[in-house]
Amino acid sequence: MDRKKVIAGNWKMNMTAAEGAQLIADLKANCGGACGCCSAPEVMVFPPFTTIAAVQEAAKGTPLVVGAQNVHWATNGAFTGEISAKMLVEMGVNYVIIGHSERRQYFGETDETVNQRVKAALAAGMKVILCIGETLEEREKGVTEAVLEKQVRWDLADITKEQLENIILAYEPVWAIGTGKTATNEQAQEVHAFVRALIGKMYCPVCAGKIRILYGGSMKPANAEGLLAQPDIDGGLIGGAALKAADFIALVKAAC
Ligand code: 13P
Repeated sequence: MDRKKVIAGNWKMNMTAAEGAQLIADLKANCGGACGCCSAPEVMVFPPFTTIAAVQEAAKGTPLVVGAQNVHWATNGAFTGEISAKMLVEMGVNYVIIGHSERRQYFGETDETVNQRVKAALAAGMKVILCIGETLEEREKGVTEAVLEKQVRWDLADITKEQLENIILAYEPVWAIGTGKTATNEQAQEVHAFVRALIGKMYCPVCAGKIRILYGGSMKPANAEGLLAQPDIDGGLIGGAALKAADFIALVKAAC
């Protein structure tokens, strides 16, 4: 199955509007005009909400996708500090990251709230990067697959086969995020193959062949080639290395 690779930068709580616009300008200047370097991978950035408009402006005329880092499940209402899909769509934002482990760890997100957010984003016509991943403790206990299966089944509860076409999965082992420790090519491939097979069981073999599964967790130019060469790894969701134009461009090139 031919799956188009994705290189996505999750800027987390980094980059003011001015800094974000400058990063895009640097990407454009060093990317041969269109931010993509080549047409093979889809290239995406996920700035903080307040930086999105400036990044959209800076990215005009390029194929760069500008997405958001989270979305609430209600259309509007008394949810201080939250942003709805309707608000994002109005801004021309069509992609959103949901279920990042930092949201689960520090902000009390559960599989249930993740599922609600996924449903709301899809209902509003958005596409989703859904993050899953095990902690170090879970890996050491040997329950990685059970943890991932629970997350995938809960987070995708009530999601139809047709809706699944608008979802990209991101496997981000929590112990590899921002730690400099990357899963080995083999560790990552093993999990990606497991998740793909699970999608096959939950939906259909064709669905499993079509869905893109990104790896995230200390991906950088030095290790990207090996990870991206794995048959079930369809790209990367990148934190730290997405904040430096030269590194991000090197990652895009590794996916070409
Ligand atoms: P790092 O690349 O900084 O480890 O972050 C990965 C991540 O959490 C992307 O969502």
